[in-house]
Amino acid sequence: MADPHPSSASFPATRLRRLRQHPAIRRLVQETHLVPANFILPLFIRGGHNVRLPISSMPGHAQISPDQLAAELDDVQRLGLGGVILFGVPAVKDAVGSDSTSDRGIVQQALAAAKKAAPDVLVMTDVCFCEYTDHGHCGLINDKTGRVDVDNDATLEMLAAQALSHALAGADMVAPSGMMDGMIGAIRRRLDAHGFNHLPIMSYAVKYASAFYGPFREAAESTPQFGDRRSYQMDPAADPHQAIREAELDLAEGADMLMVKPALPYLDILRIVRDHFPGVPLAAYNVSGEYSMVKAAAERGWIDERAVALESLLAMRRAGASMILTYWAKQAAQWLR
Ligand code: PBG
Repeated sequence: MADPHPSSASFPATRLRRLRQHPAIRRLVQETHLVPANFILPLFIRGGHNVRLPISSMPGHAQISPDQLAAELDDVQRLGLGGVILFGVPAVKDAVGSDSTSDRGIVQQALAAAKKAAPDVLVMTDVCFCEYTDHGHCGLINDKTGRVDVDNDATLEMLAAQALSHALAGADMVAPSGMMDGMIGAIRRRLDAHGFNHLPIMSYAVKYASAFYGPFREAAESTPQFGDRRSYQMDPAADPHQAIREAELDLAEGADMLMVKPALPYLDILRIVRDHFPGVPLAAYNVSGEYSMVKAAAERGWIDERAVALESLLAMRRAGASMILTYWAKQAAQWLR
């Protein structure tokens, strides 16, 4: 009887190399594509004028002042990127991250400059406290019970205030990254109460306590001054299904898009979340360490940066990412031309 599953036909009738002979056939049978419109460019903003302070661990990236955004957004538009995400590096940090909720704050200034320079470019903001607090943690530190930790519920109120402040300053989307329980609901309710029910939330829903954030913490000057983030960010060794629980909660609280972070070492997690929530836009954050490793190896001539970067981005899309936050956004768009 004929085999009902042609894929189990065997050599020599089946020769998978046939579909690899002609470049046009290879292109015909491609299922995964990289498109600049799916890339989001992270930008680090600090105060001042005419500032462009290179970030040594992330070649090609710099902390820039708000006036430099016009040129950046011009590139973003010209290259057809999906948008940008802003990270603020405030001049002054304190215990509660006051700069992040002030209408004179660095991100608020950046939003004003961005919306003035290029109103059509999608501008998202990272909503978190680690860049703004003097202790470098992602929320309010509390030792009321003798246990020094980020106070989840007190931080929710602050996150809601920060998200609203970003919305008022012109953000097109907010992306909370603090991994506080209930953060999406708190932000959603606050935005809705102030007429921003149309403003989408991209949740850093599935974010691991990862060593791959190292270079970012130099870039954003957000290294925790004591301890680490393991009481709020996910354990890389936890049951992968915990990712589903995180995603499920955030969706129920009103998240419009989900994110898995980091990307390349967590492709299994991307696939699990993609399969479990078909139809929900899913972002991958190709984080600083993933970028810097390739840059460093390429500088030594050990690796072909362009090939490795494009292959990595492709792998993220293949694993289920609809879009990718990546420090290669501009370069990749150029390579894809
Ligand atoms: C938190 C935040 C971090 C990153 C994005 N948002 C750092 C952290 O959680 O310590 C890391 C991104 C990267 O490494 O590129 N505001």
